[in-house]
Amino acid sequence: MLKIMPCRFTVTLLALMLSLWSPESRAQVAVPLPALKDSAKFPVGVALNVGNELGDLADIQESAALIHQQFNSIVAENGMKMRFLHPAINTYDFAAADALVSYARGHGMMMHGHTLIWHHDSQLPDWMKTYQGDWQAMLRDHVQQICRHFAGKLKSWDVVNEAIDNKLPDQYRATLFLDKLGPAYIEQAFIAAHEADPTAVLYYNDFGMEAKAEKLQFMLDMVDDFQRRQIPLHGIGFQMHVSIDSPNIAQIKSALQAVAARGLQVRISEMDVRLNQKQKAATLNPALAQQQKARYREIVSAYLQSVPPAQRGGITFWGLLDKDSWLVESKPYPDWPLLFDDQGQAKPAFWGVLEGLRESR
Ligand code: XIL
Repeated sequence: MLKIMPCRFTVTLLALMLSLWSPESRAQVAVPLPALKDSAKFPVGVALNVGNELGDLADIQESAALIHQQFNSIVAENGMKMRFLHPAINTYDFAAADALVSYARGHGMMMHGHTLIWHHDSQLPDWMKTYQGDWQAMLRDHVQQICRHFAGKLKSWDVVNEAIDNKLPDQYRATLFLDKLGPAYIEQAFIAAHEADPTAVLYYNDFGMEAKAEKLQFMLDMVDDFQRRQIPLHGIGFQMHVSIDSPNIAQIKSALQAVAARGLQVRISEMDVRLNQKQKAATLNPALAQQQKARYREIVSAYLQSVPPAQRGGITFWGLLDKDSWLVESKPYPDWPLLFDDQGQAKPAFWGVLEGLRESR
């Protein structure tokens, strides 16, 4: 008994000292971050750039704890694109993607598939660029082999990505697929995917639909046509690669509402917020960080206000740490588009998302 008394005293003293610390110094004690996934009733996801030549799961070891703590959904940033899964006409390579799927499952996270059909030159298998055979049969086989392989393991797919032109947003994008099959390749892909995995939720995914009224309308016309003809399209993914001030929040809300009004699922599928195109600042200063926080918060709120709970397919952020962002790779000036800094510390942007999720759920 006598021995215990000094310990109790020490504990009380420590508690007193802790309570006198300022919040800043308390923050240095490892207080766990609240988890985004616990603040939402829909999937909150992150894109991970692993798979095949991109590197393997060992590369994300350092960030693993943060990923598991914050997210309950994963998307392969590149590893499930056409050229990785289907590298030669008769060859499918699922090994790296399978590893990612079991990693997700092992940590209680779901996976969304991205993407069965995408025109982008860097992601098209080389053999496909010169393919001379029956294009309709070949694409059908591509979609079905992949969907069958992952059936029951992936909850949803981006079936077709970015099929609407962005410069001439009232027409389909001129792609190899459009050239070979006309716009019918889009519905054919949805039909093939649905046959191969009838339980997967099938999305059309694109960017700029919240920024350009003609592009939004063109997509909605496609949706209306598909719904009339019972093409199995279940949802729309808004990539949401946006900047600090554009597009404005009213445009974003009305785009989300227009899709929700059609009874479809709605995802924010690749969110990031660029903030340095105009300022070209050398470092992320507090004023910019606060603007980014407000922007994340207003978009998350807009999603919750515009999309009824049963239609929320979730929100996915396009990378974990700022240094991982595709925007940082591709721009000549620095940027900090994501929720966590290069050391894995939560930025104001993180708190903006959390506030958006908490205040409007
Ligand atoms: C990007 C990846 O983030 C980059 O690493 C890659 O070099 C190119 O593709 N729209 C999409 C995503 O649908 O697949 C793109 O991902 C970003 C834009």
